[in-house]
Amino acid sequence: MPRILTRERLVPNVHLLEVHAPEVAGKCRPGQFVIVMPDEKGERIPLSIADWDAGRGSVTAVFLLVGTSTRKLAALKAGDEIPVFVGPLGRPSEIGAFGTVVLVAGCFGIGALWPTARALKAAGNRVVALIDAKAEHLAYWKDRYRSVCDRVLFSSRDHALGSEGFAPRPLEKLLEAEAPVARVIAVGCTYLMYASAQATRPAGVKTIVSLNPIMVDGTGMCGACRCTAEGKTKFACVDGPDFDGHQVDWDELFMRRRSYFDDEIRSLCRYEETELP
Ligand code: FES
Repeated sequence: MPRILTRERLVPNVHLLEVHAPEVAGKCRPGQFVIVMPDEKGERIPLSIADWDAGRGSVTAVFLLVGTSTRKLAALKAGDEIPVFVGPLGRPSEIGAFGTVVLVAGCFGIGALWPTARALKAAGNRVVALIDAKAEHLAYWKDRYRSVCDRVLFSSRDHALGSEGFAPRPLEKLLEAEAPVARVIAVGCTYLMYASAQATRPAGVKTIVSLNPIMVDGTGMCGACRCTAEGKTKFACVDGPDFDGHQVDWDELFMRRRSYFDDEIRSLCRYEETELP
């Protein structure tokens, strides 16, 4: 079974998981994800790939603590094994020489967008990163982004790190200051991606988002990740996860993501009552 090499807390609500999975590590591309099961009885959940090392045979994912499965993952330690670590899945992000690209990264998306930042810079783009965190102590990998990006800014709801507030406002300003911006790529919670797409819509700047619906198999078989984009039914796991943010049915996505909200709360309560020491 795949063995955990590293599991560490990056900031209070975000953890890093590095897994020995040579067959996955040899094929990873920016924008892809893995499906993980934390234990034999657990559910399958998608985690964006945040890095990989083909030589070491390792794949790194960064995840937000949200429910039972991510709490189980956060309780694992180096040397533990997990029953399922499948990937890489999903279409890789489009990498090309576009010009100026603005990356909007929030919570787990700071990790998920890192391979894209690196690849876009290597492809000759001017790369500007806008890292969104609810507070200064929730931002991580600042130095990593500074090491490859031409400019790194922060948006923070506590106005720390020199920010002017939540991401859409500084993003609108960036579109003017960095004009012409060839594309914006936003990865993070659904609301951050939605708000970023709304901020770029008036200027018509192409905006790519990495959708995060509920997933089960990750291979287009179960239909759990169904969403609507470009007016058509899509499966985020095989048609995405990247989509044009101006052509996503956001209302449907928000509604489908809430489908199991009550069950998730009950599951978390049961886990905390019965399985935590
Ligand atoms: Fe099953 Fe996409 S996760 S179809």
